[in-house]
Amino acid sequence: TGGIACYKIPNLIRLLVKQKAEVRVIMTEAATKFITPLTLETVSGNPVEWEMFPANQFVATRHIDLAEWPDLFVIAPATANFLGKVSGGISDDLLTTILCATAKPVLIAPAMNPQMWRNKVTRRNYDYVKKELGFLSVGPAEGEMACDAWGVGRMAEPEEIFSAVESFFLKSSKKKVLTGKKILVTAGPCREAIDPVRYISNRSSGKMGYALARAARELGAETTVISGPTDLTAPNGVHVISVETTDQMAKAVLKHFPRSDCLIMAAAPADFVPETPAKTKIKKDGDGLTLKLRPTVDILKEVAKVRRKGQFVVGFALETDNDLANARRKLAEKKLDLIVVNNPTAPGAGFEHDTNKVMLITPGKSRPENLPLMSKSDLANRILDIISSML
Ligand code: CTP
Repeated sequence: TGGIACYKIPNLIRLLVKQKAEVRVIMTEAATKFITPLTLETVSGNPVEWEMFPANQFVATRHIDLAEWPDLFVIAPATANFLGKVSGGISDDLLTTILCATAKPVLIAPAMNPQMWRNKVTRRNYDYVKKELGFLSVGPAEGEMACDAWGVGRMAEPEEIFSAVESFFLKSSKKKVLTGKKILVTAGPCREAIDPVRYISNRSSGKMGYALARAARELGAETTVISGPTDLTAPNGVHVISVETTDQMAKAVLKHFPRSDCLIMAAAPADFVPETPAKTKIKKDGDGLTLKLRPTVDILKEVAKVRRKGQFVVGFALETDNDLANARRKLAEKKLDLIVVNNPTAPGAGFEHDTNKVMLITPGKSRPENLPLMSKSDLANRILDIISSML
């Protein structure tokens, strides 16, 4: 679609063609003002389409043929106008007509001025195409814009778009080895009330748990996430049970565990909670305040009491010191099949990061497996590979 980032598209096409992808280009009228169809025809090696009713050409059901042709649509750059049209069901040119007529997956690379990206209507349309239409997306990135503004709105670089395309095909070629299996994942922090307005919590973001749920779902497992409060969007096809407190999480886990083949306890429940939360807001009176805390139920220890043979249980261990010894003790005490040990103080690891550096310990092996720093999604795939082989 028509944006200045169009000048980067020949590069993207070259990256795809180099990997033997067959590429066909559809342009909007506006896109043809930024870059010529001849350029894209030359790099893609295929005719470029942009007119709905080209003169002297057989048209008939061309929009249906093109809608069914690709394995993946990549809309790059995707403008605010384009997002508005597809989320509103408008099909007034060849591209939007084809998208209205397709059931194929769509990946968008939004690109626009930062104010346009912040615009409430754009946000609504972007959320809609992602959540309701299931579009995948890459970018936009932060940086300097063609209009001299600085902010979020730059199209992701061709290399990033290429790698999003590549990971789409890697994922869709995965075998659904967990079809028929039920996987229960816990994610995120818990909140424990001090009074009606204050709580105790921790810095867990839920990213690791959600990445595990996504990976389990991609392998075909029937996946449920029991999630503490997070800002994350549930992965497609994953059933989410929202809880707030550790007691609620414990109840939900113990309810769903008996019918699960595997539990991955990636959440960070509280270890201590206020003994008696105040019914009304605690007022300050110039003095300090001492909170009396009681211990919570250890969910994994409760699970260990009821687990059946064949059920696989994975725990996490968060250790800032003595990690190996502490994790081994937890592995034994909680009767785990696998423990993922991370140290949140290591660079790039732990809370809120998109990456993690962990070691894996299983009961049989004397040596831990030290993994390099990797994205939480790669780590999730790695853990799911182990689970798949055990199940
Ligand atoms: N866990 C649990 N119930 C709790 C607390 C933790 O089931 N009330 C789970 C976590 O989800 C994790 C594992 O136990 O999978 C280890 O959590 P971690 O915080 O590392 O250890 P704790 O057992 O809480 O021990 P400590 O905080 O003393 O290190």
